Amino acid sequence: MTTSSTTPTAAARAQLGERALFPTLDARVYLAHAAISPLPEPARAAVDDVLAEYARRGFFAWQRGQAEQSGLKAELAALLGASVDDLALTRGTSSSVTAVAQSFPFEAGDGLVLLRGEFPTNVTPWLMAARGSGLLVHWLDADAFRPGGEGLSQLEHLLRERAGHIRLVAMSAVQFQTGLRMPLDDVAALCRRHGAALSVDAIQAAGVVPLDLAALDADFVAGGAHKWLMGLEGVGWLWAAPRWRGRLRPALASWLSHEDPVSFLGEAGQLRYDRPIRPYVDFLEGGSASVVGAAALRASVALLRELGPDAILAHVDAWNDRAEAGLVELGLRSLRTRDARGRSGILALTPPDDVALPALRDALVARGVAVTAPDGVLRLAPHWPNALAEADLTVDLVADCLRELRG
Ligand SMILES: Cc1ncc(COP(=O)(O)O)c(C=O)c1O
Repeated sequence: MTTSSTTPTAAARAQLGERALFPTLDARVYLAHAAISPLPEPARAAVDDVLAEYARRGFFAWQRGQAEQSGLKAELAALLGASVDDLALTRGTSSSVTAVAQSFPFEAGDGLVLLRGEFPTNVTPWLMAARGSGLLVHWLDADAFRPGGEGLSQLEHLLRERAGHIRLVAMSAVQFQTGLRMPLDDVAALCRRHGAALSVDAIQAAGVVPLDLAALDADFVAGGAHKWLMGLEGVGWLWAAPRWRGRLRPALASWLSHEDPVSFLGEAGQLRYDRPIRPYVDFLEGGSASVVGAAALRASVALLRELGPDAILAHVDAWNDRAEAGLVELGLRSLRTRDARGRSGILALTPPDDVALPALRDALVARGVAVTAPDGVLRLAPHWPNALAEADLTVDLVADCLRELRG
């Protein structure tokens, strides 16, 4: 019997502020969704089901693997406002960004714009491409893109001054450290006006900040599974605007990148190496991919779609409002913008001057509050299962930690 590969019915049971779908989650308050999310029960059940089928059927479970991958693409396409034709599944955000960096038709002397303060995924692959293709890198500050900041005018100046030279601008949709949501619509409009492509890393946005890729005039948008989408590490996605069909260099193509790639496995005389590379971005799916990762992510994205991206962001924003007010009263400084357009799921704060951040983080984790502290900020990242009352509990526990740390 073939086990079900339809969207899990448990989707109907997801409720904002309710963690019943995480029955074994250790933390009292789980606020590390910007790092790695815990796996919801329907995703875990989907993985178990896939494992059972592969254990039983081996090669003959292959079609189940295909169904999980195409089912995942359909879920992602619906969540992101994209066409499945323009999506590729990858091994993660870094593989997606690296694939664009290695496949983009750069010529020696072309320019790139990168941002200081970015997560290295939006820098290292581009520096490697710059080294390999002889590109010039221009830097701006990520933080200048705060609402009311100079980032957009600096970018416009650079694009205008270097007309025709800058081929691509790379940035995250949401900054990993401060949680700043970047003004992507404005950036995309500037890029279009000046003939540059825009590559966006959306791993800190997708699943918590609504995205509509058909409306956003970006060229490439990449993401991974294990943060706000609540899947497992090792699965990612890449969207390329339809205008890029057939225009990327097939530098990373492999056996599954060809038209009609598997016919030789069923018939004699079909083994050929000259079949064209597919023009769609899924040519980057050059080999076998993670079936368990696809199954987990598919189930988690179904939950997100059931809840709705607008409702999720409103819930998380209300949680962060409540926690921010209490924490600022305790003497922490918030890096969250007042302007809602600059906000995401992340509430980033710095501790009072007399308290060391690692000590505060460790004291919170010891009290069952799962937080992270990347690059000098305390990062609270609640998601749809976090109850609003947990914001008050978190403030109380931070107060308790401060008392302890001050002796
Ligand atoms: C903005 C950003 N991009 C990329 C990554 C890493 O993603 P992956 O491991 O899927 O390459 C992270 C992880 O923290 C991140 O915050």
